[in-house]
Amino acid sequence: MNEEKLKLVAGKFPTGVTILTILGEDGDVHGITANSFVSISLKPPLVGFSLMELGNFTPLIIPGMEVGINILSEDQKATSNRYAGVEDNSVPDEQFTMKSNCPILSGCIGWYATKVKQLIPIGDHIFVVSEILDLGESDGSPLLYYAGYKSVGKNL
Ligand SMILES: Cc1cc2nc3c(=O)[nH]c(=O)nc-3n(C[C@H](O)[C@H](O)[C@H](O)COP(=O)(O)O)c2cc1C
Repeated sequence: MNEEKLKLVAGKFPTGVTILTILGEDGDVHGITANSFVSISLKPPLVGFSLMELGNFTPLIIPGMEVGINILSEDQKATSNRYAGVEDNSVPDEQFTMKSNCPILSGCIGWYATKVKQLIPIGDHIFVVSEILDLGESDGSPLLYYAGYKSVGKNL
């Protein structure tokens, strides 16, 4: 299978963009940009996301750990870049508030505080199933990702 073509076709499917966050043992917030977020179940309330097996963030995720899931607004492209490892100093450092033990990003349009239930190794990724402990939302348009970042804003 041609990897470039796989990425090209996957990029035709529009998604929102999240930052997954944890409070590290060092007291710092660690995060990763992820668009693999998916809602799974209402009863019990479960969500999921998929992490590259060999990523630096992935080994930090263990069952019982609390993970914040922050849905980005269209104004948070620089934050998305920063947590995807791309240097972007066009905005100041992000601010976080704690919900349960999860860092929640200021300015996001939706968030979940979750607790990891299950890690499922699949191919070169680990699929993480996490239970929702708390959640919230605010007005605003999402940042979209398909073949690059897009803004929904006024176009809908
Ligand atoms: C829009 C977007 C979505 C991404 N989604 C994911 C994802 O769902 N899972 C993942 O493992 N990496 C994803 N990545 C890549 C990671 O954000 C990036 O590789 C990250 O910097 C890896 O950091 P780490 O090696 O320190 O864990 C995404 C990147 C972008 C720009």
